[in-house]
Amino acid sequence: MATQKNKTDKKEYTELEFTDNGFVASKLIEWYESNKRELPWRDINDPYKIWISEIILQQTRVNQGMDYYLRFIDRFPDIHTLADADEQEVLKYWQGLGYYSRARNLHAAAQTVVNDFGGIFPNDYHSIIQLKGIGEYTASAIISFAWNKPYPVVDGNVFRFLSRLLMIDEPIDTNKGKTLFTKIAGELMDVSQAGIFNQAIMEFGALQCVPASPNCFTCPFSEKCFAYSESKTEAYPVKLNKVKIKNRYFHYFYIRINDHIHIRRRTEKDIWQNLYEFPSIETTEPLDFEDLKKSENFRNLFPVSEKIRCKLILKNKKHVLTHRVLWMDLYQVELCEESESLSSYLKIPFSELDNYPVHRLMQFCLEKIVNQ
Ligand code: ADE
Repeated sequence: MATQKNKTDKKEYTELEFTDNGFVASKLIEWYESNKRELPWRDINDPYKIWISEIILQQTRVNQGMDYYLRFIDRFPDIHTLADADEQEVLKYWQGLGYYSRARNLHAAAQTVVNDFGGIFPNDYHSIIQLKGIGEYTASAIISFAWNKPYPVVDGNVFRFLSRLLMIDEPIDTNKGKTLFTKIAGELMDVSQAGIFNQAIMEFGALQCVPASPNCFTCPFSEKCFAYSESKTEAYPVKLNKVKIKNRYFHYFYIRINDHIHIRRRTEKDIWQNLYEFPSIETTEPLDFEDLKKSENFRNLFPVSEKIRCKLILKNKKHVLTHRVLWMDLYQVELCEESESLSSYLKIPFSELDNYPVHRLMQFCLEKIVNQ
């Protein structure tokens, strides 16, 4: 069994030594064979499909990710189809998942594989990790699942399982922590079954060694688990949580004139690049309409403010991202005459909005508009 040689000095993890003899790997794989979920990206060795599934699963849970995966693969069944597609269409298939840069990276990386590798997904780690949007985790997942190469995957599930099993106090959100957990996962791996080992350890974390109230009575590691033996499973993994959460405040304007609406593509290097939205103003603090009206941005958007009527139809809608909290107000605007300042926007029939990829806040706006 894996043991911590120096358990009294928990900071010195370089001294960690394993006398595991394959116990963890064989128990994980045994557990996996009888508990794994049947998923469309499992038990296949097509690196393209594995890649798509892993990027989708970074965005969402398995249940929701399944629909996205099936729709995406149905439309872009291979790397050539994806590389040849319009970015706008790829974004449309990604709509609702968030972090659209991931979809743009998928598209760009598919083009790299087609242009630089003749459309054949590279099977060496260093080429894979050079592809846009592929980091250590994804590269390890692709290369181990598709080619059984012994690169350990370390995701949130793996951090949790290993940190509890060995009661590791090293925070997981530091480079030092990541290096340590990757080293341990690599040492525990059965290298002849790298792909299955990786799937098994992730699945174990996802289904058995869950964040809250894990069922340790049915766990095959309960007799070996340090955290369980000290009734401290809930205290692991340890995190520093250094990142400060930032608030952003968005005010959207739904302006409909004769069944036409105004939208624009977000071109700036910021969240939602290349996605479409109503005219909007962002402020650094929450502003009610009276204060918003006084702002320069508002006057630029609606220079003749006496000729508009704004009705607040959605207030303080909250949307949480990893390091940001977004707050949105939505105004329905009546204009007496179309202002010159809107000429830089696209004017489209409302019914055609479906053809444009939009971000999550816009989806909230649309839900509100069609249901009001
Ligand atoms: N989460 C991340 N990768 C996964 C996979 N391949 N199967 C199930 N859940 C996952």
